[in-house]
Amino acid sequence: MSDLLTVTEHAPAKLNLALHVRHRRADGYHELETLFAFVEHGDVVRVTRAGADSFTLTGPFAAALASEGDNLVTRAAARFREACGGGAHAIELEKHLPIASGIGGGSADAAATLRALAALHGVAHDDPRLFAIADGLGSDVPACLLGRTALGRGRGEQLAPLEGLTGTPVLLVNPGVGVSTAAVFRGWDGIDRGPIGDGDLLAVARTGRNDLEAPARAMAPAIDAVLHALAMHPGILLSRMSGSGATCFALFASDSARDAAARALRAQGWWLAATRLR
Ligand code: C5P
Repeated sequence: MSDLLTVTEHAPAKLNLALHVRHRRADGYHELETLFAFVEHGDVVRVTRAGADSFTLTGPFAAALASEGDNLVTRAAARFREACGGGAHAIELEKHLPIASGIGGGSADAAATLRALAALHGVAHDDPRLFAIADGLGSDVPACLLGRTALGRGRGEQLAPLEGLTGTPVLLVNPGVGVSTAAVFRGWDGIDRGPIGDGDLLAVARTGRNDLEAPARAMAPAIDAVLHALAMHPGILLSRMSGSGATCFALFASDSARDAAARALRAQGWWLAATRLR
C-alpha cells in the first residue's frame, strides 16, 4: 500500500507503423503482425483516492466521448478493483485525442488508468494481473500498458520490445470521420500479403504496409484525401494510416519539414497534432 493520494498518468497516442493482417481466426479476431509505436501527444488520466467513485471528462474531445456512454477508463477501474482491491476513486480524463480514430485513445486511457491505480496501491507495473486486465479490455490495451515501441503478434497482445526512431518528428492528421474497427476488419480481402521483416525499424516499417488501409479508404474516402495531401510534402520518411483509421501519420526528417506540412494542411480543417515518437 502506498500513501499517494493522486497519480497523474500520460496516455500517449498509439501508432501502427505497419499492420499486417495474416488471417481471420475461428474466434472472429484477426491474427496480426504490427509495429506499435507511441507519440508524445495524448490524453491525461488523473486518479485520486476518494470516498465514492466519480468520473470527470474534460478537454477538446470530452463531448464526443461523453456521447458514447460506456468507456474503457471506468471499465479498467472496475476490473482493477475486482482483481486488486483499492476502494473508490475520483478519475479525471483530459481527452485530447479524437475517438474511434485508429490511434488507440480509449486503449491508452485504460492503460494509463491501470498504471495510475497500480502506482496508488503499490502494485508492480509488471504485475501479471495488470496485463490480464488489459488483455480483457481490448486488443491494443496490452501494447498501451507496455507503452513502448514493440512488435505485436496474435490480436496484438503478444509483444516484443523494439528499439529505434525515438524523437522522430510526427504529424498526426484526422479528417474528422469515425470508422468502426470491426467493420474495417470485416472489409479485409482475406489475402495474406506476408510477414513484417526484421532489422532497422524505419526500413522494416517502410517495406511494411497497413492492410486495413484499403477497406478503410473504401468506407471513408476522406482518408484518401489525407494520404494524398501528406504524400506531397518534402522531408517525409513514411506516411500511412494507423490502425483501422481514420487517423493518418507521417514521420519527418526534421521538425521544420513537419511544421511546414502542418501549416500547409491547416486550411483543410482537419485535426492535426505535431508531435514526436517516444
Ligand atoms: O479487441 P478490440 O475490442 O479492440 O477489437 C475491436 C474489434 O476489432 C473486434 O471486435 C474485432 O472485430 C476487430 N479485431 C479483429 N482482430 C484484431 C483486433 C480487433 O478482428 N486483432
